[in-house]
Amino acid sequence: MEHSAPFAETSRRGFLRTVGVAGGAGVLYSAMGAMGLAPVPTADAASYRAPQESDFALSGRGGKKVVILGGGIAGLATAYELGKAGYDCRILEAKNRPGGRNWTARGGTTETDLDGNTQQARFSDGQYMNCGPGRLPQSHVTLDYCRELGVELQAFVNQNADAYIYHQNSAALAGKPMRWRTAKADVYGYVSELLAKATDQGALDAALTKDDKDRLISFLQSFGAIKGKADGFAYAGTDRRGYTVEPGAADNAGVVLGPVPSLSDVLASGVGQRFSFELGYDQAMMMFQPVGGMDAIPRALEKAIRRGTIQYEAAATAVANVPGGVEVTWRDKHGREHVERADFCVVATPPHIAARLRHNLGDPVTNALKTPTPLAVGKIGLEYKRRWWELEDRMYGGVVPTDTDLANMWFPSYGYQGRRGTVIGYYNTGANAEAYGKLPHAQRAERAVAQGVKIFGDRYRSELAASFSVAWHRTPFLEGGWVGWRDQNGPEYKLLNQPQGNVYFAGDWLSHVIAWQHGAFTSARKVVTDIHTRVMAA
Ligand code: ALA
Repeated sequence: MEHSAPFAETSRRGFLRTVGVAGGAGVLYSAMGAMGLAPVPTADAASYRAPQESDFALSGRGGKKVVILGGGIAGLATAYELGKAGYDCRILEAKNRPGGRNWTARGGTTETDLDGNTQQARFSDGQYMNCGPGRLPQSHVTLDYCRELGVELQAFVNQNADAYIYHQNSAALAGKPMRWRTAKADVYGYVSELLAKATDQGALDAALTKDDKDRLISFLQSFGAIKGKADGFAYAGTDRRGYTVEPGAADNAGVVLGPVPSLSDVLASGVGQRFSFELGYDQAMMMFQPVGGMDAIPRALEKAIRRGTIQYEAAATAVANVPGGVEVTWRDKHGREHVERADFCVVATPPHIAARLRHNLGDPVTNALKTPTPLAVGKIGLEYKRRWWELEDRMYGGVVPTDTDLANMWFPSYGYQGRRGTVIGYYNTGANAEAYGKLPHAQRAERAVAQGVKIFGDRYRSELAASFSVAWHRTPFLEGGWVGWRDQNGPEYKLLNQPQGNVYFAGDWLSHVIAWQHGAFTSARKVVTDIHTRVMAA
């Protein structure tokens, strides 16, 4: 680089150290940019450094113009981060709202699907459903954005000991909802009994010392609440299962829930197969949600980026590398075509949507965009006139997994003890989501309610006030819940993580955290870092 030529390697480092000490990271970065040594910061959560206006201070460079296709989380975050250094960003968003898959339905929300069916949500004031993402793990940068943008969080109850598991197709205990606490007491209890017996009888002597055996048996006694050696380490049920009569005052010791099913029935019920869910890195408690709806995140990003940055109802149709930059063609809601020129383009739509753009990036790009497979996903929100799950089941939030076509049901983590509440009646994927997605809304609701009645009884129908459903794969410009790659080490994934001329790609689908906003944010950070590094080095 012409600026760096006069600096010998050692004196260059010495100069940078001096500048860094005197002026802090911003000045250091500017100096490095001026020397043609634009640093290559990583986009990782721990080390990400947002571009800043001061990066340009000593270099005479300026923010370039960037046109971004898609105003979902990746597109919004790209504009937000580049905006910090004064880049001139323009987002072309096909829908009339920000957020992409992150959207929240409230009373009045209207959406028309790809089959031409229009729904209007009739939820009452304060009731809502998150149609897309609904939970945030502690480790995700999404929480950092919430902090930075002032989005208030509340706990999302992803695991509740008093929520149910419902299996109708199991070989035993079928068709009876079982609370998580009961399922855990029985599975942990019987497994502990078996392992303690085997250990005590010497079956594991090849693997365990005498001390190991003693310690393992002590652990199993605490883990499974089993009896001692004299009683054969038997699991006989404890109050961990719950009560049918709650203990209380004076001589009311309560009545522990019984009878305890047999070991064989507990194994055949399959409830233990549900336990790994809460051990998943992304699904373990604590989890969070924004107060008032997940769309608080895109709304806050929209507010934080320069006014007029987002052009709504603007569907991109073509992107091309042209001399000196890029050219994007888009259509407005009246069908009129517009052409936008910029230095760079960031395509932040789902890959299967991007695959339909006319472009001059070459066939391998089109093929790569078609490689990941979009997944069908469905959700229904059911508003109830009464929070019967709190009043009668004493279940305050939580996920109810089922082996029905509903897959998962979510009980609300907001509005506790209020009058009304909105339940996610199904959150399903694949064939189940396809089956519901094919139906018009009224039939989806009818089918979902009929399934729910099997678990929760007639109140599941009689207390219903309003409903709204979404088939992500039938929603215009989303056309899928998220995508699956056959191989994220393959050439297609690698190609799209590289700029194609002045065109970049961003989205959760270009991360190892697909189906989470964290994936979209970190992908945006990567592209922002790549663009800024390139601009600083030019
Ligand atoms: N992130 C999605 C969920 O939590 C897959 O359900």
